[in-house]
Amino acid sequence: LQQVIFDTDPGIDDAMALYLLARHPAIRLRAVTTVFGNASVATTTRNAQLLCRLYGLQIPVAAGAAMPLLASREPEFPAHVHGEDGLGGQAQADGGLPAPDPRPAHELICEMVNAQPGAITLIAVGPMTNLARALRHDPGIVDKVRQVIVMGGAFGMNGHFGNVTPVAEANIISDPEAADQVFTARWPLVIVGLDVTQQVVMDERYLAALQGRGGQVGDFIWRATRHYQDFYSERDGIAGVYAHDASAIAYAIEPGAFTLRAGPVRVVCEGLARGQTIQDFKDMGHHARTAWSDQPVQQACIGVHAERVLALFDQA
Ligand code: BDR
Ligand code: CA
Repeated sequence: LQQVIFDTDPGIDDAMALYLLARHPAIRLRAVTTVFGNASVATTTRNAQLLCRLYGLQIPVAAGAAMPLLASREPEFPAHVHGEDGLGGQAQADGGLPAPDPRPAHELICEMVNAQPGAITLIAVGPMTNLARALRHDPGIVDKVRQVIVMGGAFGMNGHFGNVTPVAEANIISDPEAADQVFTARWPLVIVGLDVTQQVVMDERYLAALQGRGGQVGDFIWRATRHYQDFYSERDGIAGVYAHDASAIAYAIEPGAFTLRAGPVRVVCEGLARGQTIQDFKDMGHHARTAWSDQPVQQACIGVHAERVLALFDQA
């Protein structure tokens, strides 16, 4: 069983990713940590708690960063994508929610990683602020995590560069400094970016089938994706939604469904291209040294069998 801490900003596609973690028999979900991103951290924390209740999960939910690392960067919440409530208008609670875990997210992460060296996979699908804070709080965790999987960034494969600016993806541009620290830390990291997530499209038929068979959860996903789907069909002309965050979970479960490319990865932190991710990969047979050559080598996903990812979620 792969033990996972899920760092998230629910978020409609985050809600789907959490469901895959909750249901897949190869995963033992240990905790959820929350971050600002698709909405304020107060909202994403509440959403995480609501989702845990809906999915029958009894695990700690710990609130994390409300802002990017640099206080000068004001967070902007994309209500036009995920709705004011972060869940496409479906974040209704009947009855009260318990208080979140007393630990801040980054402390919970460090405690759990240290308690079981080599066992914990961190999966982050929001701005990378909590992970950067955890690295600062205890740099020793780099040697103790099993692996780190993040949804974020884009490397230009098949024309996929950015979804906020022409070159920047949302999770990265929300806190570029944090992402750069996470990508240049010496821990085993896999980046699941738009290059692959924009190939994993849940179309209207797929979602309708979930609604038919998926009981209360299938129904919830159908309702929550109505607004999200309108946004994407208007913007990208697709009749469906991208399964961004669920693709990161799929990587944890079935890495063979993805093609990887190795090389140091950095984030542009200033200027017009702020939030762009760049990988210093080597073409076959060409190993020229660059100024980044002593940065840690990380893996970026550049290909995916989209049907396998969709089938995984459908089975859940
Ligand atoms: C990422 O940004 C968020 O809006 C989604 O939840 C996903 O994590 C996609 O760019
Ligand atoms: Ca997300």
